[in-house]
Order: sequence, then structure tokens, then C-alpha cells
Amino acid sequence: MTQTIYPGEVFTNTADFDSGIRQLLPRYDEMLEAVTTCVPSNCQTVIDLGCGTGELSLKILQHCPEAQVLAVDYSPRMVEFARAKVTGAGYSDRWHAIYGDFGDLATPTQDKHTIQSTQACVSSLAIHHLSDEMKLTLFQWIASILEPGGCFWNVDPVLPETPQLAEVYKTVREKWAAQQGTTLEAVRAKIGTSQPQGHSGQDRLATLEAHLEMLKSAGFDAIAVPWKYYGFAIFGGYVGRR
Ligand SMILES: C[S@@+](CC[C@H](N)C(=O)[O-])C[C@H]1O[C@@H](n2cnc3c(N)ncnc32)[C@H](O)[C@@H]1O
Repeated sequence: MTQTIYPGEVFTNTADFDSGIRQLLPRYDEMLEAVTTCVPSNCQTVIDLGCGTGELSLKILQHCPEAQVLAVDYSPRMVEFARAKVTGAGYSDRWHAIYGDFGDLATPTQDKHTIQSTQACVSSLAIHHLSDEMKLTLFQWIASILEPGGCFWNVDPVLPETPQLAEVYKTVREKWAAQQGTTLEAVRAKIGTSQPQGHSGQDRLATLEAHLEMLKSAGFDAIAVPWKYYGFAIFGGYVGRR
């Protein structure tokens, strides 16, 4: 029987995630490092939405030596994998995890967890599982909990604007896999079958322009795209920046 996984867990075996994602997506480490670099190193509080196996959390913990990181993920398997890595790296006293759906956090009447405030919020490769309506609700919630001057940076795949660009992005990913000594087909053979879970479903990509509109409408200012590589972009902004 095929094991079903949650949207975003990607691989049937959690242990395949860290190597598999680096073959599947071009420049995975670079995109996470770029998100991290956008977070001020003197941040005291950072939320990591959809922490997965903890790769972004680890980079933030290293970059922000005084930060307490609150990681959120609805997958116990991913969180436990992250916890083992964070503990092994000696950061367990500065990393705390919530098992929960970040869509529920954004609609707090549905969830037992409430988060009052944070100086920064980051996310990598997770929010694209929400509907556009929920993306906007999530961005509004993030804007509402950010302290004045606080920032939000998200890296996600974006919807290609034309079929020609979709082909370009596909070719880039095929070439990347070949450079890693594999093929997309071989990596995809390890991908699990997911069923909708909570607020998340299959990939629900929006264009970069649509994301920027959502951020604006959610109340962010100084909205920016500090990094982009073909079909992947980092976007976000600040609230109450003077
Ligand atoms: C592709 S992984 C990325 C993990 C990590 N951020 C990284 O860049 O390696 C997406 C993660 O988001 C989580 N996720 C997806 N939708 C979620 C939701 N609605 N609430 C909480 N976690 C979610 C999945 O369980 C998975 O761990």
C-alpha cells in the first residue's frame, strides 16, 4: 500500500528530504541563505513557518546568535527530524516547535496556539500549498504580529507568467538535476503521494506579481524581491518601517 504524506513533505521517507530537495530544486541552499541574510542578525525572535527538516531554522540560528526561533509545521515526522538536527547542532535551547497548521494560526479562533508578536517571520517552500485566499489571510496575520520595523521573507516557487517561461523553468530544473548526476524522473520516484491536509493542498502557485499585490494589501511596506532564480523567488517586506 502506498503511504500518503502531507502536502509539502515531498518525499515518502523523511530521511530522503535533505538530499532529494537539493537535487530537485536548483540552488536550494542559496535561496535559504538569501532569506537568512535578509533577517537582521540582531533579531531576538523569529518564526519559521513550515520548518520541515529544519534547514532554514538552522541557518537562522547561526545567523542570529541571540534569536529564539519558533518553528511551525503540521507534520510530526518533519518536526522530529528537525528537532534531532537542531539538538545535534547545539541549538535546542533557542528552538521551539509547534505542531500545527499555519493556516489555523492565521485564523486563531480555530487554533489553540496564539502568537502575540515577533521581530521576523520567514518561510521556505511551504506557503505555496495554501489557496490564494489563505495566502492573503496568512500575510495579514503575519503583518499583524510583526513588531514595528519587523520583516517577513518567504521563498517559494512562482507561477510562470507564460507557457514559454514554464518551459524555460522546466529546462533549468532538468539541467540542474543532470548537474547533480541524476534526473528529475529518478528524484521524483522518491516523491510520495499527498492528500489535502488542513489548509494545504497540492502546489497552488501564484505569480510573483500576485504575491506582491497580496503583501501590499496585507499592509506590508518596502515590499521587495531580494532574490529570484527562474521559477523561484524571495519576496516580502516590512511593517511600520520608518
Ligand atoms: C517543502 S517543505 C520545506 C521545508 C523547509 N522550510 C525547507 O525549506 O526545507 C514544506 C513544509 O511545509 C509544511 N507545511 C505545508 N503546509 C503546511 C501548513 N498548512 N501548516 C504547517 N506546515 C505546513 C510541510 O509539512 C513541510 O514540512
